[in-house]
Amino acid sequence: MKDIYISAIESSCDETSVSIVKNGKEDIVTVVNSQIDTHKIYGGVVPEVASRLHLENITLVIDEALKKSGFDLNNIDAVAVTYSPGLLGSLLVGLEAAKAIAMVYDKPLIKVNHMMGHICANNIGQSLEYPLISLIISGGHTDLIYMESENSFKYITQTLDDAVGECFDKVARILDMPYPGGPNIERLAKEGKDVYPMPNLVKGSNISFSFSGIKSHVNNLVHNAKQRGEEVNKANMACSFQNAVTKSLVENTRNALRKYNVKYLSVAGGVSANGFIRNALREMCESEGVTMFVPEVKYCTDNATMIGAAAYILYKNNQFAGLDTKASSHEELQIEAI
Ligand code: KG4
Ligand code: ZN
Repeated sequence: MKDIYISAIESSCDETSVSIVKNGKEDIVTVVNSQIDTHKIYGGVVPEVASRLHLENITLVIDEALKKSGFDLNNIDAVAVTYSPGLLGSLLVGLEAAKAIAMVYDKPLIKVNHMMGHICANNIGQSLEYPLISLIISGGHTDLIYMESENSFKYITQTLDDAVGECFDKVARILDMPYPGGPNIERLAKEGKDVYPMPNLVKGSNISFSFSGIKSHVNNLVHNAKQRGEEVNKANMACSFQNAVTKSLVENTRNALRKYNVKYLSVAGGVSANGFIRNALREMCESEGVTMFVPEVKYCTDNATMIGAAAYILYKNNQFAGLDTKASSHEELQIEAI
């Protein structure tokens, strides 16, 4: 079969990224321009600032990807882009750029759901096996999904309130650490001990995520200490928090694997860059006789490579999009409730 080269664009949040991916597996080139240094100043992503920076950077990032790879847009087979979910103004920039390429170079357009992109990060350099349970842990999502095959999604559960990455970011802020909080909490937790009592986030064999309670709990501990004129030990707090959250991710995933009798687990999303969480999930999988897939760390947080990998599945199924495709802030995967 002929090799398929897809150029993909990702701009749903605070990364402007462009890639060329071969056969949904091979990263020919990926450029990621992160806006983190700007958003850090405000303690989180400011949507208006994000879309303006995407607009300033998108053509530069496309040019850089082409220069680095020596590729010409005439030689790609399709152009793919994230259309949902995400920040509307940010999504629009990538979508309009992709439409322009599709029109000028007469290439098919493929619209990719960002969450499918995260899952397909696991097809880069390896191949997912099915049926599987997919755990998506990012700044906006904490989902367990049952997948019978590569294009079939059935939600098992979604967080009842905050996403796990959002919770890492908020707890980091409470502890006076910059955005994004996840990597900072992970670093600090390595120096701490699990000594602060945390709410139990595991409810027997139930499959249910909720993280707003633990965030308020950390907030209360910090404020109560301040009122007494004391300081909390931040490293111990980060360690205790990370342990409690990890336990919830591990036990809920174990319950889902057992309930649906599945032997493959796909872990993805920004929080899956966390080494402590990766190890804990890996240990659980070993004890359950389950094979775990997790992307290389650089493909865990937002990138266009994963969008190119997901687009390849849609390409094979002739699922192309029109130039009237709209961005949507909240469109979930095409799913059925289990
Ligand atoms: O997938 P992602 O890049 O963007 C969304 O689609 O949301 O995820 C970003 C989230 C942020 O909340 C960030 O704090 C978290 O992933 N994150 C981490 C780590 N690296 C990124 N959380 C915990 N530990 C990390 N090492
Ligand atoms: Zn993401």
